[in-house]
Amino acid sequence: MRKKLIAGNWKMNTDRATAVELAKGVAAGAAEAGDADLVVCPPAVYLSVVAEALAGSPVALGAQNMCCQDNGAFTGEISHTMLTDLGVEYVILGHSERRTIFGETDKNVSDKTLKALAAGLAPIVCVGELLEEREAGKTAEVIRTQFEGSLAGVSETQITSVVIAYEPVWAIGTGKVATPEQAEEVHADLRRLLTERYTAEIAQGIRILYGGSMKPGNAAELLALPNVDGGLIGGASLKPADFLGIAKAGL
Ligand code: G3H
Repeated sequence: MRKKLIAGNWKMNTDRATAVELAKGVAAGAAEAGDADLVVCPPAVYLSVVAEALAGSPVALGAQNMCCQDNGAFTGEISHTMLTDLGVEYVILGHSERRTIFGETDKNVSDKTLKALAAGLAPIVCVGELLEEREAGKTAEVIRTQFEGSLAGVSETQITSVVIAYEPVWAIGTGKVATPEQAEEVHADLRRLLTERYTAEIAQGIRILYGGSMKPGNAAELLALPNVDGGLIGGASLKPADFLGIAKAGL
């Protein structure tokens, strides 16, 4: 009922030539990767060349971040109109690296989410606990706080365009993947939070991705979980075969 979504977050990797090559590789194999929606999120400076490389393919373009303002004196920032101008459809917001390294708060994330939604972009809103929070038994509380704060002010109509990504911070880039039980528990919690805040019907339609060391070899069991609707892939999105292998694992 919910179409799977496999999104590649290239983070601060690639150069112009390898970004184009990677995009072309993903585009070339997309048809055999099943019917999941595929999205690639290159560094902002390569959005343009990647958009050209993806032209005519079913692979959508995403950005890794966005400013919460429309335009003006915001040095170094990128606006929603700049993104939509380049054909961007998705934007990752509140990634844990933005939160922990660059100090983004839930309020920043909700401001950006509301701006993205108003601009017609689909935000991929990330939440996830730190290792010490999990070990202290605070995972559910942290996820609830981030969910409520990051989606503050998002209406019933708007939430249907949102994708949520659960990324346990301890699993990102570490090779330590959440067990299926750990992933499903948090995804089911998120679905419950969506039901409480909106309606059961709306909650059932929203895609919740898992992110954190997802690879072709562990993707099948994660993507088979009832509340896991896709993946937000970092390291394994840098090789077309791995990225597409994850999509195929979800078939
Ligand atoms: O956005 C992607 C996530 O941070 C996961 O990264 O697959 O390298 O662990 P990873």
